[in-house]
Amino acid sequence: MVDAVQIVISISDEEQGYDLDLFCIPKHYAADLEKVYIPHGLILDRTERLAREIMKEMGGHHIVALCVLKGGYKFFADLLDYIKALNRNSDRSIPMTVDFIRLKSYCNDQSTGEIKVIGGDDLSTLTGKVSMEKRDIIDTGKTMKTLLQLLKQYNPKMVKVASLLVKRTPRSVGYRPDFVGFEVPDKFVVGYALDYNEYFRDLNHICVISETGKEKYKA
Ligand code: HPA
Ligand code: MG
Repeated sequence: MVDAVQIVISISDEEQGYDLDLFCIPKHYAADLEKVYIPHGLILDRTERLAREIMKEMGGHHIVALCVLKGGYKFFADLLDYIKALNRNSDRSIPMTVDFIRLKSYCNDQSTGEIKVIGGDDLSTLTGKVSMEKRDIIDTGKTMKTLLQLLKQYNPKMVKVASLLVKRTPRSVGYRPDFVGFEVPDKFVVGYALDYNEYFRDLNHICVISETGKEKYKA
């Protein structure tokens, strides 16, 4: 069977973004950002549509919505709000339970692909259920691939992954989530819960960090 072409908003490598002055930015980050890349309103509008796509595909199943913290918390909360609105207002609805996990790479090195899952209920609650992972960003895809392998051991009936962002990078292992908000160039982005050394999670828009910002919050 030929895979259906995935509909996604692709942000081009030439995209300049928007001047910070056009939007509301916390004062403490004024010098630390270059541009607004994806305004908060656009993130929400796209997330609303993803909720509809998810409902179309998953309606009727009971799902375990699994949030990958910390970066995924905003996308998770907003996506679930939209799914809940659809549940209240349409003929079909998705019964949902939620869970939250954090991923730590073993050697403090994402590229090893070895991860440790922290928190969350006993993952055996996934056995026989439909699981729906919510991520902030797929970069190389290594971590996600490893997580999916791990979840497989618990025999879920089905696992689907929604990621707000997917990076276009030559380092990609070729992994593609089932639902994607935006495809972005190979640049480091922050905001909407995505961090740079734990900073910028308290920023509504997805932005590109400035050299000043990189230096100021360097580990
Ligand atoms: N921003 C924040 N966290 C990340 C990114 C990024 O661009 N890529 C991988 N983790
Ligand atoms: Mg991070």
